[in-house]
Amino acid sequence: MATKKLYIQTFGCQMNVHDSEQIATLLRPHGYEPADRPAEADVILVNTCSIREKAAQKAYSQLGRYSLLKKRKPELLIAVGGCLAQQYGRKILKRVPLADLIFGTHNNHLLPDLLARAAAGRSAVVETAFRESVPSIGFPAEPDRDAVSAFVTIMQGCNNFCSFCVVPHVRGREESRRTGAILEEIRWLVDRGIREVTLLGQNVNSYGSTLDDGAGFPRLLREINRIDGLMRIRFTTSHPKDLSDDLIGCFASEAKLCPHIHLPVQSGSNRILKRMNRRYTREDYMGKVEKLRSACPEISITSDMIVGFPGETEADYEQTLDLMRRVRFDALFSFQYSEREGTAATALQGKVPDHRKRERLRFLQKLQDEHTLEKNRTMLGRDVLVLVEGHSKNAREDMSGRTTTNRIVNFPGEASLVGKVVPVRITGAYLHSLHGERFKIAGEGSC
Ligand code: SAH
Ligand code: SF4
Ligand code: F3S
Repeated sequence: MATKKLYIQTFGCQMNVHDSEQIATLLRPHGYEPADRPAEADVILVNTCSIREKAAQKAYSQLGRYSLLKKRKPELLIAVGGCLAQQYGRKILKRVPLADLIFGTHNNHLLPDLLARAAAGRSAVVETAFRESVPSIGFPAEPDRDAVSAFVTIMQGCNNFCSFCVVPHVRGREESRRTGAILEEIRWLVDRGIREVTLLGQNVNSYGSTLDDGAGFPRLLREINRIDGLMRIRFTTSHPKDLSDDLIGCFASEAKLCPHIHLPVQSGSNRILKRMNRRYTREDYMGKVEKLRSACPEISITSDMIVGFPGETEADYEQTLDLMRRVRFDALFSFQYSEREGTAATALQGKVPDHRKRERLRFLQKLQDEHTLEKNRTMLGRDVLVLVEGHSKNAREDMSGRTTTNRIVNFPGEASLVGKVVPVRITGAYLHSLHGERFKIAGEGSC
């Protein structure tokens, strides 16, 4: 079999990153070897995201660059997958006429055949059917040789239909994987050197709702916690409306569950939360934060926030800032509202002008930077356990890893530490990372 060089570029969230890993593993036995650079590829596969207009534009401009490559090398195949491909299907060809293959989020398993058809045919192949069950949900993704951390899909799709969000429209209905298959995959990963898993789902709290065996997320966590050789468990993302007391209790009882939760709030105004169809109030949210902190005092809480949602007044925005000041997130991802075709919010009145959204976002991010720095500074002088991932990006002589609370720590050390958990005393606290020195006594563990 002749080998072909495959270059994959991924936009979007961790689900997309993991889909790309699965695709690379799936295509390898069919003769596709990874290419280091687009210029040396026989196939360029762009895994797109459609969550905001900016994400879509980034994918289109990259596809424009790859089209120029194809003009010089006509045998190059360009494949477009992911959420934007799912949403627009054949219409993608209007913007990227040189694309050879458009495939949707439920069709990754067909890639060997789709690529062969695209290579053989004259016109583009388009496959964006939605299926009852996503066939690639449990595909293994072979971890890199020195990887210590891996993603594991526990569920696909979303049934929540938040009014701003395109995900249910491009990923389809919620579907949970069987517990046995998840446990088996994690054991397989641990045998290959993986020490930390991040469980993926758009709303992991409703894990099990499509299964008939009484499975639920807290029970899944308890079973994963028992896997020998695994050190750390993380998960993303959690919807506040479904965050149960049982799950909160897991932060206290399950030793391997890292004391970090990403709990997107989106707005601090009840009026806006209602228009977003989030189905909780600011009081519900703050109540859950309080419970999390009393179960696990050192838990790190991160979130997502949207500014400029249709109808957001200055008073609503002030409520958002007020919630931030009360909760004091460890980190926050914040976005200007971006209208997405097909979502319910497109019909809402009261569009906020771009300059106002920009202003609101800038101020909010400045406030969050103060909170992040304040939180990071509380780590000064403390001893933490760092799972070492590799060399630091900034200084080659430093190694880099994460605390259980998901903070990046750089410290002087050797490459042989990769994959190990080492105690580090924190000596420097910055906005995006901590710095430290290796030390003997460990302080920060799970709760
Ligand atoms: N499943 C996750 C979120 C996935 S999308 C959850 O339920 O929270 C990641 C983040 O992108 C969202 O939390 C939201 O803050 C942001 N986002 C989604 N749609 C958006 C839009 N139309 N405009 C701006 N931000 C958006
Ligand atoms: Fe989107 Fe809401 Fe589903 Fe998250 S829960 S993916 S924000 S619809
Ligand atoms: Fe983007 Fe799709 Fe993820 S829209 S955020 S890649 S689920």
